[in-house]
Amino acid sequence: MNGELLYLNGQFGPLAEGTIPIEDRGFQLGDGVYEVIKVMNGRPIWLEDHLDRLRRSLAAVRLSVALEGHDLEDVLPELVRRSRVVEGSIYLQVTRGVAPRDFVFPHPPSPTVLAYTRSKSFPTAEEILAGVTLHPVKDQRWARCDIKSTNLLASVLAKEEAREEGADEALFIGGRGVVREGGSSNVFAVMDGVLRTHPLNRRILGGITRLHAIDIARRLGYEIVERSFTLRELVGPNGGCSECFTASTTKDLSPVVRVGREVVGGGRPGPVTLHLLEAMRAEQALLVGMAPPAALT
Ligand code: PDD
Repeated sequence: MNGELLYLNGQFGPLAEGTIPIEDRGFQLGDGVYEVIKVMNGRPIWLEDHLDRLRRSLAAVRLSVALEGHDLEDVLPELVRRSRVVEGSIYLQVTRGVAPRDFVFPHPPSPTVLAYTRSKSFPTAEEILAGVTLHPVKDQRWARCDIKSTNLLASVLAKEEAREEGADEALFIGGRGVVREGGSSNVFAVMDGVLRTHPLNRRILGGITRLHAIDIARRLGYEIVERSFTLRELVGPNGGCSECFTASTTKDLSPVVRVGREVVGGGRPGPVTLHLLEAMRAEQALLVGMAPPAALT
């Protein structure tokens, strides 16, 4: 299919023809890590940041050796070029490879390194402005959410519950009602004129979009603090936030218009959210040699 090209352990080929042995530890044990990278105008966006995080994830699961012999700085742009994907994403996964099933590490490991491209149009201005809704769920994930691991069962269940409740995204709530992050996104809120988001620690994934959103917000002169807030503070009886948005690679920044049953910001995207998103879209366009995108409103 157009736009679907696979890089598997050093070889390029059609995605539909790629196969992984049954005893790959990624399949049996979830013993792997991954990245999702945005492709725009046929070029990966913020590739270095994603590869840095991949290296951190691999180090955390003691699998740094996996990238030896895979020059992903060159391989991934080459994959995108060969695939002819213009708009879409790269999915990149590294596992501890194939070995007779056992919990302890195989010695030496023979890691599986794969990446493939997918074409997908980005949301239109109309879709972005419609906003997204969040469904709060208890965070039942493990205690190392900073590792971008392929162990995603708690996230799968949370996001499915959100979908069944008619929401677009799950909102992970930790102890004492703390808002951690979305099912597959980070969460920001504007409270008393200050932008806030959960600090980097083991309870959340350090999103690349989050990183750039913070950087852009600072450059635009917004006050931003990495300090957590509770669900009650977000949409509670004391007024709650004036704006909220999610941040993730495939969706950039999505204005949140409802959390549970509570409407946020009058049900419309707020000015800070739109300002940051416009700036992010312009920066991404510049990075890949495109004309600045049209204004959203
Ligand atoms: N998910 N938090 C979680 C739990 C995530 O799974 C993601 C990304 C993010 C945002 O990270 P980034 O800005 O680097 O995409 C935060 C990806 C997109 C996914 O699993 O599909």
